[in-house]
Amino acid sequence: MRNGLILLILLASISLGPCELRAAPTNAVRELVIEKRFLNLPVKNHAPKHRVKLLVDGQLAREFEIELADKEPDFWVFLNLAPFQGKRATLQADGVLADSSALSAIEQADQIKGAQELYHEALRPQFHFSSRRGWNNDPNGLVFYQGEYHLFYQHNPYGWDWGNMHWGHAVSTDLLHWQELPVALYPHRFDDWAFSGSAVVDRDNTAGFQTGHEAPLVAAYTSTGRGECIVFSNDRGRTWSEFNGNPVVRHAGRDPRLLWHSPTKHWIMAVYDELDGKRWIAFYNSADMKQWQFQSRIEGFFECPDLFELPVEGKPAQRLWVLTAASSEYKLGTFDGHQFTAQTPMLPGHRGNAFYAAQTYSDIPARDGRRIQIGWGQVAAPGMPFNQMMTFPCELTLRSTAAGPRLCFQPVKEIERLHGARHTWSPLTLAPGTNALSGIEGDLFDLRAQFTVGNAGEVRFVIRGEPVVYDAAKQELVCLDRRNPLPPVNGKVRLQLLVDRTSLEVFGNDGLLYMPTAAKFTPDDRSLALTVTNSVVRFDSLEVNELRSIWPQKEARH
Ligand code: FRU
Repeated sequence: MRNGLILLILLASISLGPCELRAAPTNAVRELVIEKRFLNLPVKNHAPKHRVKLLVDGQLAREFEIELADKEPDFWVFLNLAPFQGKRATLQADGVLADSSALSAIEQADQIKGAQELYHEALRPQFHFSSRRGWNNDPNGLVFYQGEYHLFYQHNPYGWDWGNMHWGHAVSTDLLHWQELPVALYPHRFDDWAFSGSAVVDRDNTAGFQTGHEAPLVAAYTSTGRGECIVFSNDRGRTWSEFNGNPVVRHAGRDPRLLWHSPTKHWIMAVYDELDGKRWIAFYNSADMKQWQFQSRIEGFFECPDLFELPVEGKPAQRLWVLTAASSEYKLGTFDGHQFTAQTPMLPGHRGNAFYAAQTYSDIPARDGRRIQIGWGQVAAPGMPFNQMMTFPCELTLRSTAAGPRLCFQPVKEIERLHGARHTWSPLTLAPGTNALSGIEGDLFDLRAQFTVGNAGEVRFVIRGEPVVYDAAKQELVCLDRRNPLPPVNGKVRLQLLVDRTSLEVFGNDGLLYMPTAAKFTPDDRSLALTVTNSVVRFDSLEVNELRSIWPQKEARH
């Protein structure tokens, strides 16, 4: 019946000539033989959304919503045609107006449209990951395998805003340089989206998914129409298959986090759970990731849980579990494979204005041993063909403080590989009225300082017009609208600022304070300033490292 209808529309379309629009604002149809790598689609932000279907050999292959441009597009997005080479396809868009070029403008090509400008767009983060096209939110499935850090992410490949949730995919061998790969998970069907989740390496093939020499990667994600689902990959995350017993958990909730609990030799799924009008994290366990048994739940966490164990001050004998969720607030306690028992109240996590839904890497090799976290950097990119970014990877540690052990966030040491020209002062005695950084200009920096504070006055960094101020009287760090406590340690304050084109990550006292922020830089201002008020301030050290972009430089024009 449905095929017959499509055939009718098709015949009508063909009778109007190849690639022709239909004359009515109903379904417009084009026939294609797929012979190129990409289908480029024009987008106009805020244009009416069209439901687009791609049928390959008569079968529905892709379906999504898109603000198709009727005339001049704001930007172009793309659909990967690699799986369909040589096949006949039908492209269908609903509600297209008779005089619209929306459907006829869609074109096959071996390059994505705008490839020459890729990664050189004015607001493209230069050492943070962002998607080539479209929207990203949460990092998903962070897992290390065979030398590659995988970064999957909530992705709308077809628009600037949230929607059409897929899992995008990028890999890196050094946590700095990212290579975006084709979309990893497509929605199960339209309106059954691929929401957030996690991934692990199933080294012992406990699930029995292994087909070749590679250990399978197993991911759990929320299929919004079904529940928590399991998928697996036998080719280092390049292609994924559905477990045929999906969904493995049905409940009101989302965002499954998988981890291996070695004392009980079971897999754990920590998952956001809604029950009795309250917000919980539920814990399930499993021997094979196929059958899951409910263990317990804990109230007071919302979305995107993460659960991991860390030594305090690096001492293997003193370990605590960290339970956290999308806000990055956390509790420390014990986890016995069945239940989390908190030993602290809820503690603050990230304290900037532009982060959410961070996740830590699974399967980092023991010889490395780090707990590495990436979050969603909520940084808008107006006028760009992409939107949002990821925060810079941070190493998480537990350090002893007067109030007890606390989580610290520090940029991974790999950042130093991006250091370019370096300006250093050690020590520096700075009097009010002098700008210690005058003459240094740019838009990518790793800036580090340690200074002795009294009980009055300010130490004031101004980055491209945006102040980051240490208020000595209040012992607070102020950046944009956020003011956070940063008491000196032995009379000293340590600061590190990672400055990218559109973001500023502030680390205080070796990561006891971490503020990822969406910066409000003055567009043409590339200046830096460091001044003090009130009295002379002694800097034990001050260094400004210019950073290199992670993206390939444009080829010189001849
Ligand atoms: C958090 C979140 C998750 C959900 C995903 C959808 O940002 O709302 O709970 O799985 O985003 O994109």
